[in-house]
Amino acid sequence: MTVANARYLEMLTLYYEEEIEGAGWFNAMAEGMPDADKAAKMRLLADVESYAARAVEPLLTKYGLTPRDQGALIAEGVAQGKADARKGWDALIREMHETFPCYMVDFARLEAFAPHQDLPELKVLTAHEIAAIDFVDREIAGQPDSTEPLTHYLETGGVT
Ligand SMILES: [Fe+2]
Repeated sequence: MTVANARYLEMLTLYYEEEIEGAGWFNAMAEGMPDADKAAKMRLLADVESYAARAVEPLLTKYGLTPRDQGALIAEGVAQGKADARKGWDALIREMHETFPCYMVDFARLEAFAPHQDLPELKVLTAHEIAAIDFVDREIAGQPDSTEPLTHYLETGGVT
């Protein structure tokens, strides 16, 4: 039997839920953006969130964990996204630049708590944040290929 401590299982469930919520958040921001190019970038981020959530779903199944209702999580993300879409692109990117690295700390802690055999799935989760941070850095630098880390992640899971 796999041994996993309660704190680990709690974090795993929470971070999974946050990715589902995050997908709703990015999709709602995409809806609220008149600029098609920027909306497409938000949709890509939503896809990355969904991909990351799917990657860890087998772990939730393995431990019999029951996350909060998907519809409710998405609705919370959408509500937040509708409000945040009004902030404007530059403010949003700046905010992501500040907050995304904090998630790296969370994911590193999750990996540290995890049983060794769970690491392949968790690495895919961590890699989505690396891709998102790379995207934000490229946006700030004005690079035209800013979405490349996101599309690469969606093709490979970031683990190559
Ligand atoms: Fe995320």
